[in-house]
Amino acid sequence: MTEIIIQDKLLHLRNDHVSYCMYLLEGGIPAHLYFGKRLAGINPAAVLRHYELPADGSFSLQGCALDHTPHEYPAFGLGDLREGAVSVRQKDGTRSVDLRVVKVETVEGKPGLSGLPATFGSSARTLFLHMKDALIGLEATLSYTMFDDVAGVVRSVSFKNVSDSELMIERAYSLCLELPDSRYDLITLSGAWSREREMIRRPLTMGEMRVSSLKGATSLHNSNMLFLARPETTEEQGEAIGAALVYSGNFTAAVHVDSHRTSRVLLGINDVDFAWKLAPGETFQTPEAVTVYSDAGLGGMSAQFHRVCAEHLVRGKYARAPRPILLNNWEATYFGFNEEKLLKIAKTAADVGVELFVLDDGWFGHRDSDNSSLGDWYVDTKKLPQGMKHLSDQVHAMGLKFGLWFEPEMISPDSDLYRAHPDWAIHIGGREGIQQRQQLTLDLSREDVQDYVYESVARHLAEDGIDYVKWDMNRNFSNIGSALLPADRQKELPHRYMLGLYRVLEKLVSSFPEVLFESCSSGGGRFDLGMLYYMPQTWCSDNTDALCRCQIQYSTSLVFPPFAMGSHVSAVPNHQTGRMTPIETRGNVAMSGCFGYELDLNTLCTEELEAVRRQIARVKEIRQTLLYGDFHRLLSPYEGNDTAWITVSKDKNEAVFMFTRALAKSFAYPPLVRLRGLDAQKAYTVAETGESYTGAELMNLGIAVKLPWGDAASVSWTLRSN
Ligand code: DGJ
Repeated sequence: MTEIIIQDKLLHLRNDHVSYCMYLLEGGIPAHLYFGKRLAGINPAAVLRHYELPADGSFSLQGCALDHTPHEYPAFGLGDLREGAVSVRQKDGTRSVDLRVVKVETVEGKPGLSGLPATFGSSARTLFLHMKDALIGLEATLSYTMFDDVAGVVRSVSFKNVSDSELMIERAYSLCLELPDSRYDLITLSGAWSREREMIRRPLTMGEMRVSSLKGATSLHNSNMLFLARPETTEEQGEAIGAALVYSGNFTAAVHVDSHRTSRVLLGINDVDFAWKLAPGETFQTPEAVTVYSDAGLGGMSAQFHRVCAEHLVRGKYARAPRPILLNNWEATYFGFNEEKLLKIAKTAADVGVELFVLDDGWFGHRDSDNSSLGDWYVDTKKLPQGMKHLSDQVHAMGLKFGLWFEPEMISPDSDLYRAHPDWAIHIGGREGIQQRQQLTLDLSREDVQDYVYESVARHLAEDGIDYVKWDMNRNFSNIGSALLPADRQKELPHRYMLGLYRVLEKLVSSFPEVLFESCSSGGGRFDLGMLYYMPQTWCSDNTDALCRCQIQYSTSLVFPPFAMGSHVSAVPNHQTGRMTPIETRGNVAMSGCFGYELDLNTLCTEELEAVRRQIARVKEIRQTLLYGDFHRLLSPYEGNDTAWITVSKDKNEAVFMFTRALAKSFAYPPLVRLRGLDAQKAYTVAETGESYTGAELMNLGIAVKLPWGDAASVSWTLRSN
């Protein structure tokens, strides 16, 4: 049960797992005391003394004592000279903010955020710190929600201009978290196209470390989250703190270690390309940030994030339902298809048990390559002469669901839409637009563009029997300007774009609750908690090479559970790496997420097709465990040649264990892997080998893995308790 204890100036949120403590200093400045394992009580003096410098008379801090205070929501420049969380420009051009708590309020549950993705749940309590800067007429409300079942806090900030002149918010981060020391490793997920979310771990050192995006999206290059682990923290043991933004646009995630080796974590909208004009009476809401704490290693931290995703973020019919096994035609045909070819692929897919056929890019306008037609969302009758409904009817007649690819946020210069509305693209008048993949981005800050995007997709969903949408987004912002925004609001464009996108998505998912949406951005370029609120699964990466996927899925699981990760078996040689891997290994790795195929099954030999048939039958049997069980990382591909993980059903009666060895080792003992998450008391039988073990044995001694011959060898075993 979450409690909020208010004792004079001490504010203590806690549930069965964690405590979050604050203290209102003289004048109402909220100081941060503690975030960690649940406490019975806390003495603020001890924490605050930690930040005191010796008063030996040789110097005076004068007004700058705030520079040595752990703040909840610091502003730069009035005593605290470190980087702050908020900055507001006033009409005279100065940028001081001095927010003081004027009221503390608590409510049951978790209020939603208008226009933004947000966590939800009734078994929670929320604390509001209502603050005011009386001089400039700015109100800010810091919101802290603790859910009963999560070892963490969800935070956001809302602002209101209560003055009679305009204020310009130049920075409004979602979170500042002060830590009394810096004995941590910083872990971030950074990469590139086809190498998304590589796990990077390095010690915190004095100074500043930051990952960020200015690309208009979370990006392929950095993820909007960071993790702090004690140097000795492993998967299973030790302290870890994670912070992740519920947002999909530009962000910054930074840790500052000061000269006294205390640490300040900042997370929020990147302010390099952000400002928000707040007219008198107007409000501004930051995105939410989720922070979790674990004293059971990175595995314990991920379990908290997975619970946030499963219980407090993902919505709709597919939040808990089995996800259909799909076949996507992208790598099977690229742009070169017609109805006959598609139906042939779909037919074989249906024969082996696939449940959903997805038509990817290339079905609209005259899109025979990626250089045209985005925005012209009408069917290319050269490829599909009888239209989309005809195709979907035939696919449905095979017993398959039918899915369709869209890239609705984009516009090709070679499109009817662009010829009619060149000003609908994000652009700077007079400058030639910089194209990526021969396309520009639509200006989703505009309501007319939002409505067009909604209608383009909704029309097909209403008329063509679409059961699934792959929502792609394949370029970043450049030439950042909007034809409609006035000069002093141009810096609002990146955030207004996100609000526009969220408006469209909310309308679509509520109008078409039966449709399964999968988010995609050149692979996993927008894999974040914001998109997960609208779409229950995200395409992990265009790289489907099984060995690369071991890394990508391993690190993605730091925050995201298997049900959030789209993962498919594709052809060999792999289209991204040229590597040959066995069909079994490709299947074993892919089935640890939302399973599917990305190839023409007609090109497989009989044995491979039989293997596919077996894979599909098996996934159908165990997918509830695979998707919604508790996921534990066992061996890291970042540390060696082997990857292993296990997913255990909530009742611990079924588990699926996956092991993959990248390079074969000659004359070696079979690896012995200690499993996790099982019931020590139960006996488990491995379906594939018939061997039986107790849970205690599997977790303490381990299981010896007899691997097939060759590189990229793998096993996937189903363990059932008798
Ligand atoms: C990028 C996606 O990641 C791919 O899966 C595919 O849909 C292409 N776009 C299509 O253009």
